[in-house]
Amino acid sequence: MLRVETNNLAKFVTEDEVKNIKPQLELAAQQLRTRTSPGNEFLGWLDWPCDFATAELERIKATATEIRTQCEVFVVVGIGGSYLGTQAALSALGPTFPQLSNSAERGGPLVLFAGHHLSSRYMADLLDYLADKEVALNVISKSGTTTEPAIAFRLLREFLVKKYGRSEAMRRIYVTTDPERGALRGFADAQGCTSFVVPPDIGGRYSVLTAVGLLPLAVAGVDIVGLLAGAAAMREHLMNDKNADGNNPAYKYAAARNILLRKGYDIEILVSYEPGLFYLAEWWKQLFGESEGKDQRGIFPAAVGNSTDLHSMGQYIQEGRRALFETVLEIAEPGRDLSIPREDDDADQLNYLAGRPLSEVNQGALEATVLAHVDGGVPNMRICLPKLDALTLGGLFYFFEYSCALSGLLNGVNPFDQPGVEAYKVNMFALLGKPGYEAAGAELRDRLNDGRM
Ligand code: PA5
Repeated sequence: MLRVETNNLAKFVTEDEVKNIKPQLELAAQQLRTRTSPGNEFLGWLDWPCDFATAELERIKATATEIRTQCEVFVVVGIGGSYLGTQAALSALGPTFPQLSNSAERGGPLVLFAGHHLSSRYMADLLDYLADKEVALNVISKSGTTTEPAIAFRLLREFLVKKYGRSEAMRRIYVTTDPERGALRGFADAQGCTSFVVPPDIGGRYSVLTAVGLLPLAVAGVDIVGLLAGAAAMREHLMNDKNADGNNPAYKYAAARNILLRKGYDIEILVSYEPGLFYLAEWWKQLFGESEGKDQRGIFPAAVGNSTDLHSMGQYIQEGRRALFETVLEIAEPGRDLSIPREDDDADQLNYLAGRPLSEVNQGALEATVLAHVDGGVPNMRICLPKLDALTLGGLFYFFEYSCALSGLLNGVNPFDQPGVEAYKVNMFALLGKPGYEAAGAELRDRLNDGRM
């Protein structure tokens, strides 16, 4: 089971501070349990791993089986919470080089992503790549109105219709959206596409364990039953240990990061030593950034992948402005390992490592870095997992979601809304001439012209 180690906070967080935050932590946990927190209309994720209907799970598995026979490439169209969890799980559990592996090695079709930005170069390259492949796609948008996936879907839909004809194209389009509202729901119902729902009471960034993540992950051959079981076990662990003095890892994590924030440590760096965790950090950044960064408050979530980033960001972390703390994701069992070879001439002077596993060197880098950064004034915690598999990853997703909700409540914000993401959209619609935004568009163009003079 996952553990949170806080020994390396001793220099930065006192026992009294931990004791003093306890009543606030218990209140936040109680607000979640009793569904009385701000944003309580979006607490569906709390019981989701246990409530998830068996019939829906079976339908996802059956559809995934059908998709696996239908295509070589499965394109997931979505942005934010509608793709990051899938990308995170695929990178963590799938092969390191999916595009270079065959479908047996991967466990299913190649999963590619679209609609998570507006790059014309990426879309043009993707369409070229798909030209001679068997393709199916899953368009995912809770609101059904998000511009980036909507444009990618329009381009890919045109591609599929040209390639297969309209009725076969519609058989290759799988829609995941709100059960009743939005343009995508209307499209799926009108065209008779197979569709799944994003539950209305689960926000995008808390939705990885719904059909949003489960369908594409099942297509890719990920053990989705294991993911849900891991999340359910973690829920049990976190919800049943109600004592803030105990060893509840979410309480420890949420308490520590809020104590640090109140002392001016307002940047958290999630650190991993496995490239396969890169997208997990991206998912985590979205979860915490959108949940906590509001009302001019919040911890800025950043991430590094070591030891790569020790050769770039390492300098800043060691000696830059002291507002950072680190949370290290530590995986005990690397999954695969190699022994470092001996060489007779020892020209590179690495024979002192000969015969030792590469994972031991990686762990050495982790331990050495933690000590150096703590000495340099960077508070450090570790989230320790025995290994990385579907069970532990499902548990980790749930752990972060629960900790994030607790943390946001501790900091006095609603962790389930994201009012700030509208600002750029209004400007973009206005500048691009969307009907209804004419006045705002004229004003913005004037501002841009002033700036250019
Ligand atoms: O967490 C959220 O709600 C957002 O980040 C959404 O996931 C993101 O904006 C995509 O929204 P939608 O699924 O409605 O297209």
